[in-house]
Amino acid sequence: MYLGIDLGTSAVKTVLVDGAQRVIASESRPLTTASPLPGYFEQDPAQWIDATFATLDALKATHAGELAAVEGIGLSGQMHGATLLDASSRPLRPCILWNDGRSAAECRVLERRWPALRATSGNKAMPGFTAPKLLWIATHEPEIFAATKLVLLPKAYLRLVLSGEAIEDVSDASGSLWLDAARRDWSDAALAATGLSRDHMPRLVEGCAPATTLRGELARRWGMTGQPVIAGGAGDNPAGAVGIGAIRPGTAFVSLGTSGALLAPTSRIAANPDRAVHTFCHAIPGMWIQAGAILSAASCLAWIARLFGATEAELLAPLGLRPQAPSPVSFLPYLAGERTPHDDPAVRGMLDGLSHGTDRGSIVQAVLEGVAFALADCRDALADAGIAMTEADAIGGGSRSGFWLSVLANVLNVPVHRFAGGETGAAFGAARLGRLAVTGEAIAAVCTRPQRIETFEPDARLVDAYAERLPAWRELYRPRH
Ligand code: XUL
Repeated sequence: MYLGIDLGTSAVKTVLVDGAQRVIASESRPLTTASPLPGYFEQDPAQWIDATFATLDALKATHAGELAAVEGIGLSGQMHGATLLDASSRPLRPCILWNDGRSAAECRVLERRWPALRATSGNKAMPGFTAPKLLWIATHEPEIFAATKLVLLPKAYLRLVLSGEAIEDVSDASGSLWLDAARRDWSDAALAATGLSRDHMPRLVEGCAPATTLRGELARRWGMTGQPVIAGGAGDNPAGAVGIGAIRPGTAFVSLGTSGALLAPTSRIAANPDRAVHTFCHAIPGMWIQAGAILSAASCLAWIARLFGATEAELLAPLGLRPQAPSPVSFLPYLAGERTPHDDPAVRGMLDGLSHGTDRGSIVQAVLEGVAFALADCRDALADAGIAMTEADAIGGGSRSGFWLSVLANVLNVPVHRFAGGETGAAFGAARLGRLAVTGEAIAAVCTRPQRIETFEPDARLVDAYAERLPAWRELYRPRH
């Protein structure tokens, strides 16, 4: 029996997976995000721990026998967040999250101070990443910077609480900007450019390697007979890749979570930092992931549902199964700024083309289309790095909408596939990593592709109609920096 724990942005989700890779049970607990100033996003690490423990306590109440038999645990997590710990491993302040835009000026400083940044990390310095956040802390909260003894990404903090050890996997670490992506090791020069050293960093392991074990007292709390191994795990995007068997080149996929991404596993680094393409180590050795990342995807649908005072299902149902034509309204999904391709934390969203005749459906459709157009920008940025996409699997909460996947298939002009649901996602991928860490099985034997239950084919008429709209949609973007 294996556990996968995904420390997401909107919730912690824990899944219990058996030896036949069936999800036996799953529990999730919501998380809240504070926005102390516009463009600032923070979470309290204590909330992650409470939410994780609540999911495990709930699993014990309903599946005590299965939980007792857990041998391996995999962790996945929202990437890039800066969790700063003091000498007693206590958080010094709320974690600054992946979508926080406060450190734009520090990104420029960092690139000046360390000209090898792009070549070494494969990334451009963007405010979402961890390193510029530390420069911001050094300038604006110097007493906290001075007290910082350890810098952890969110799931490494969770692992510290679960095991007592500070350990990070290379996939999540590659979202910090402190990693030499080719060598899969910390870069001393990168750390020095932010006034830090290896002493401030956790030990590194590969995602599918054993990292540590669950503390004895926690294993007893959840009735486990042994002390399960905790794997390296992965950032939520690489973990999602493992969950759907995207472990080889040519298995690009789309993630429609709170954030969105177009991700392509590669066997060598194919960076394109100038267009804000992300370079991540994959959760399996010898592989990387090139990604276009957008900051708001399913969160745009949640936003418009809040505005209309309706549930997402109520908004989607009247749209039908597939679009008939592009909406007359256009939407820029930059509600929290944007990374790929603009790297513009200050830009904001926009609805364009409203009239007296505009109804709710046109606006909802425009929101879904705006996210799809943003992913088309990611597709083009990846294409510039030589990564072509002929089809795409879709994962994340947004992939439950067939209408949305149909829009995507037409905007990207590739077939888009979806899976049954339960046996996918970052938590499931994390559970697979937990299993690999225990059994040492062949990666390909465990990281198989779940059954695709539906394929959304592009329709030539709609492909043309969306291709015609894309340039006008792009014109709406005006840089704010
Ligand atoms: C990826 C990114 C997000 C977070 C939160 O670069 O910032 O996908 O991992 O899910």
